[in-house]
Amino acid sequence: MRLLVTGGAGYIGSVVTAELLASGHEVTVLDDLSTGHRDAVPDGAELVEAGLRECEPVLARGCDAVLHFAAKSLVGESTQRPELYWDKNVGGTLALLEAMRRTGVARIVFSSTAAVYGEPERVPIGVEHPVRPTNPYGASKLAVDHMLTSFANAHGFAATSLRYFNVAGARGAQGERHAVETHLIPNAIAAATDGGAALSIFGRDYPTPDGTAVRDYIHVVDLADAHLRALDAATAGEHRVYNLGTGTGSSVLEVVRAVAEVTGREVPVHDAPRRPGDPAVLVADGAAAERELGWRPTRGLREMVADAAAFAARA
Ligand code: UFG
Repeated sequence: MRLLVTGGAGYIGSVVTAELLASGHEVTVLDDLSTGHRDAVPDGAELVEAGLRECEPVLARGCDAVLHFAAKSLVGESTQRPELYWDKNVGGTLALLEAMRRTGVARIVFSSTAAVYGEPERVPIGVEHPVRPTNPYGASKLAVDHMLTSFANAHGFAATSLRYFNVAGARGAQGERHAVETHLIPNAIAAATDGGAALSIFGRDYPTPDGTAVRDYIHVVDLADAHLRALDAATAGEHRVYNLGTGTGSSVLEVVRAVAEVTGREVPVHDAPRRPGDPAVLVADGAAAERELGWRPTRGLREMVADAAAFAARA
């Protein structure tokens, strides 16, 4: 297929691009490089340096489907500067969908998030769990999910939203390098290997077995595999939604232990207060993705940490 990957110079978009190329697809990446990196775009993909509102000429050249990753994605920033999130994530996506409609491109896989569920009522979280985002980032992603339902109904789009839990790991030269790194695994690796600042443990008083928050970490290559399957399974006039996680939770301290074991170094830590809005436990029920896409993640926490550490060592 001829595919457009928005945000293909970012972490998850670049890994998915690499997997699409490896499967024989032709890929154009659309990225304004505001947070992405030119050299993260895998060899073999074309890079068009432009924003979502400028995507129509690329679509007009001929395109079978869009994989849409371009977005603002910092929860904390979204609470301080919500206008950025409504503008880029919602306004930008509407511009993309309108350009798709005008050029007759009607298949899309969208990068959604577990943040649409907010504070969970129960775990594991299935797609039928109520959606009550607790920050503008999650709300903006949920707005796009709703947008896709209406474009599927009204305009026959084949749309899929993939709601990611905690994505980690790397694929060779493609990995996580955010200017401001907020995520646990890269921060723990940096603390262990850089001899730099100790890792903050955000909250030791959660109602969990060891008192630290529990998350469902999913390897970015397993996640990419779900995108390829979703692309093939998409059906005109339907908006499908899947949760992507392993179904297994790991606490912050379990992650710290895994990083220490994999790197062979101690992770210096210090206790810090809970981050506002962080739920105690987030674990996915991925049964729908397994049933309908035949998707099942195969990589565990140690592999995620090992691949993330190998990526960090390249930098
Ligand atoms: N944590 C630390 N120290 C750190 C970083 C994180 O203790 O330096 C803790 C957090 O408090 C949390 C866990 O490690 O309990 C994971 O934190 P991350 O920042 O790695 O990931 P989040 O669970 O906060 O965020 C993820 C996605 C977001 C999404 C959110 C849904 O990255 O995009 O889940 O709640 F919005």
